[in-house]
Amino acid sequence: IHMPNIRNFSIIAHIDHGKSTLADRLIQHTGMVGEREFRDQLLDTMDIERERGITIKSNTITLPYKAKDGEQYALNLIDTPGHVDFSYEVSRALASCEGVLLVVDASQGVQAQTLANLYLAMEHDLAIIPVINKIDLPSADVNMVKEQIDQELGLDPELAILCSAKEGIGIEAVLDAIVAQIPPPQGDRGRPLSALIFDAYYDPYRGVIVSFRVFDGVLKAGDLVRFMFHNAVYKVEEVGLFRLQRQPSPELAAGMVGYLIAGIKTVADTRVGDTITLDANPAAAPLPGFKEVKPVVFSSLYPVASDDYQSLAEALEKYKLNDAALVYTKDSSAALGQGFRCGFLGLLHLDIVQERLEREYNQSLIMTTPSVRYKFQLTDGSEAAIDNPQFYPDPVRIQKAFEPFIRAALIIPERYMGAVMKLCLERRGVNSTFSYPSPGRIEITIELPLAEVVFDFYDRLKTVTQGYGSFDYELIDYRESDLVKLDILVNSEKVDALSTIVFKDKAREWGVRICDRLKEEIPRQQFKIAIQGAVGGKIISRSTISAFRKDVTAKCYGGDITRKRKLLEKQKKGKKRMKMVGNIMIPQSAFVAVLRSE
Ligand code: GTP
Repeated sequence: IHMPNIRNFSIIAHIDHGKSTLADRLIQHTGMVGEREFRDQLLDTMDIERERGITIKSNTITLPYKAKDGEQYALNLIDTPGHVDFSYEVSRALASCEGVLLVVDASQGVQAQTLANLYLAMEHDLAIIPVINKIDLPSADVNMVKEQIDQELGLDPELAILCSAKEGIGIEAVLDAIVAQIPPPQGDRGRPLSALIFDAYYDPYRGVIVSFRVFDGVLKAGDLVRFMFHNAVYKVEEVGLFRLQRQPSPELAAGMVGYLIAGIKTVADTRVGDTITLDANPAAAPLPGFKEVKPVVFSSLYPVASDDYQSLAEALEKYKLNDAALVYTKDSSAALGQGFRCGFLGLLHLDIVQERLEREYNQSLIMTTPSVRYKFQLTDGSEAAIDNPQFYPDPVRIQKAFEPFIRAALIIPERYMGAVMKLCLERRGVNSTFSYPSPGRIEITIELPLAEVVFDFYDRLKTVTQGYGSFDYELIDYRESDLVKLDILVNSEKVDALSTIVFKDKAREWGVRICDRLKEEIPRQQFKIAIQGAVGGKIISRSTISAFRKDVTAKCYGGDITRKRKLLEKQKKGKKRMKMVGNIMIPQSAFVAVLRSE
């Protein structure tokens, strides 16, 4: 396939507007899969993705398409993850495209994420094809949506394609528009190889499969390639195209999208955004836009049963093969024994890791209260960077403390302005500026402490804007701050795993919140339990769980033995997810519940 016959594109949409359904239809329409196999097997394959309805790992597929002009085309559909934790991966996927389909639901119209996605596409100078989906719905209002596309998106509504991914209407028109409106890739196969890595995943049989877009040059099996940032050289075993399965091909040349296999052992040996070149004839410079993604949220993982430490170590090692963003080191806690300190891209990433370790690797885990990384200037002139409250320096030794700040960009409908600003100010936002990207919408740029946003800011934003708010951020710097360590005592015993580093003026609020949450999470026991929050030995909050009186099985007396057994089994299961801390059973959920919004 020659460059004029290649199209590289992505589909972007607000949640639930039909991105996956449209992708599946395009695949089906290009004859790659029959009606019977349709659905189930295609893009968005991970269980967790399906349940949460968001794409976590991107998938790519090359669709063969014979257009009206009689020519054969290769349409490379590059899927993008849908969450702010993974925004760098999205940016690399878009950097590999020349155009996007911007899907808008015909009954819902333009939404916050539609706009945020549009801006991303514009930043990369991509051709944008508006697609009005779900025209089969009785509530579809095509004229209203066309007007929004004109007014709010500033795109030509006459170019919008009317489609129903569900009913298979307009699919051919979408494919023809991709061919006609998205420019073919530019590039030169005669120049030294430069190819952009936009994804990588681990295959147990073949090692790492690297997804990339070739900008210049040619890549063949047998070549020695260099990953320019990582500065590692590999011998390429196989290159090929993503079809329903991987399809080896003799070469991949400028303009194309595909994969390579080169005996790479873990995805941590690759970096999304890195440039692949030939070792013998390297490109003069790497492709622009490389950024190393760094973890911003840290938490410790402990096995519920201490005996399972080895098993957790093995699970993490295997899991890590497929997740370059996760970092971990050994950790130990007086309350919880041996475990691992882990770094994540954000709270969703943390959730995904926890869920997959539990489901796919059968681990029963306790995670400690997440934290960001703080920096300290100590009285002896040394500096410390600390993400684990356990290592909080002795307060008398702290000269200055610093916390990470972000610059957030929020796009919201004007009517939510008050509520969103209130939220931002509660979270210690400063230096806000406003712009009006389109009538009725406001873009707020504001600087916030990272610690105030990583936990539940996104959820709160969605709540106060009824789902219309979109949010993106970048780390900017560390700023001086007044920090303290908040300890939690359960029956006078300090539970190190529940300690947190907090902004001083918020310590009391946090203390009260944590004590109240723990009161809900920790079940009653035979004796009274006191929960206290303390800063430097001074108690600042407390709550009490009163003792319970009745034996739970007492009411099943007389006869119904199966019910009694069921009840006991349920209790036993419950216990598996609890951790004895001193003489108190603390359920697994308590350790992170303290940070979640209601
Ligand atoms: P996220 O992955 O959450 O961003 O969602 P998505 O944009 O991938 O949406 P998805 O394809 O999962 O579709 C969301 C819902 O809309 C599903 O229940 C689909 O069956 C439905 N849907 C998609 N396209 C159409 C359509 O053309 N007509 C109708 N009536 N429903 C559709």
